[in-house]
Amino acid sequence: MDDAAKLSLNGQEYSLPVVVGSENEVGVDISRLRGESGAITLDSGYANTGSCTSSITFIDGEKGILRYRGYPIEQLAEKARFPEVAYLLIYGELPNAAQLEGFRQALTYHSMIHEDMKKFFEGFRHNAHPMAILSAMVTSMSSYYPETDEDDEDLNIVRLLAKTKTIAAYAYKKAIGQPFVYPQNSLSYCANFLNMMFSVPAEPYEVDPILEDALNVLLILHADHEQNCSTSTVRMVGSSQANLYASISAGICALWGPLHGGANQKVIEMLSMIQADGGDIDKYVNKAKDKDDPFRLFGFGHRVYKNFDPRATILRKAATSVLDRLGVDDPTLDIARQLEEIALKDEYFVERNLYPNVDFYSGIIYRAMGIPTDMFTVMFALGRLPGWIGHWKELRQDPKGRINRPRQIYTGAVERDFVPLDQRG
Ligand code: SDX
Repeated sequence: MDDAAKLSLNGQEYSLPVVVGSENEVGVDISRLRGESGAITLDSGYANTGSCTSSITFIDGEKGILRYRGYPIEQLAEKARFPEVAYLLIYGELPNAAQLEGFRQALTYHSMIHEDMKKFFEGFRHNAHPMAILSAMVTSMSSYYPETDEDDEDLNIVRLLAKTKTIAAYAYKKAIGQPFVYPQNSLSYCANFLNMMFSVPAEPYEVDPILEDALNVLLILHADHEQNCSTSTVRMVGSSQANLYASISAGICALWGPLHGGANQKVIEMLSMIQADGGDIDKYVNKAKDKDDPFRLFGFGHRVYKNFDPRATILRKAATSVLDRLGVDDPTLDIARQLEEIALKDEYFVERNLYPNVDFYSGIIYRAMGIPTDMFTVMFALGRLPGWIGHWKELRQDPKGRINRPRQIYTGAVERDFVPLDQRG
């Protein structure tokens, strides 16, 4: 393996150090390039650019590998509970019994939000998108829990993990005009959320273990994904030394986009549209291939996975099992299966390595659980929280940490004199 890359430019040769990661990924360090050559690199969408080194998550897009701190996603989804995975991503190791008990206790006893924060919900329109509520409420947490010193960091991390699920459930209750349900200290993280979502004062509510287990898997599968758009946003904002809540709120906004976390909502809308249109799948596959048609197959394709998304593989199986166990017959699942089968044989999709991604099946499970479509991206955010927090913490602990400030190549007007108003065309 070369320890340096050579770049020849304008008759000069430059030697750029090579960085090799623990999984033998190779990076060319261009930190000195501009200083030595005056040139920068350009990489639209950062498809070939590493923003940092990180020890949190490893993805091999060609082999469909995803590991959190070295643990394969398949094992974590099968054997772990979400608080364990959150601790792993944030602190680097699986918690021992005492650490897990302490973390669970902290998550339980910080689940309530300040009573004054409930008043913010009165200001949102009845049909406010829950992602708008979530990002606003998370930012407002910084006014209740200002960071005063390092000790507060762990407390603020727990507050964020514990209270965000409460805010999410309250956003749902607000949307359906039902009273907020307070967290119950006797319930697990997932059961507490489901109880706050679906219980009503008028009658007792028992959390179905099928739903609790399905939510646990969904949150684990969404917990981190290295430098995706929203995590890179959290790192960008965190690099200015903005507080944790402000940084995470920025990540929530980035996740909302339909090309990113908003895709799970778009998948269900797309499948429902195909079903309403008589289930003509070929019509929509052809629309997705037509360059003059803006329609895309949401839930397909990925910047990194050029093979199957391992999370989609797990969710594909989970969708069948959860719907069977709940006795739910959802025709969009059949449409999803047919769409997947047709697309995976179609040259356009095969040539471009477009496979189902994490968003393709998740919405079908959320819907079977009774979660409304516009809450799907909120569910993605609840899962991604520990990943965002882990990356924010890793960035802030970097002794060489600097504010992120990319360069650009200017392509606008060259110097010209001001034109008085009466002389303009
Ligand atoms: C997530 O980064 C992450 O890790 C994200 C995520 C995470 O956990 O954080 O995994 C979560 O965001 C999953 C992706 C959810 N988004 C969608 O399902 C939206 C639909 N997919 C696409 O828009 C697209 O595939 C992206 C955004 C996911 C990836 O975009 P890229 O890497 O920029 O690829 P591209 O848009 O340049 O597409 C390459 C080609 C193009 O055709 P050509 O110009 O080569 O002819 O593939 C085509 C695209 O038109 N294409 C699609 C398509 N996705 C790509 N054509 C039809 N339908 C699609 N879904």
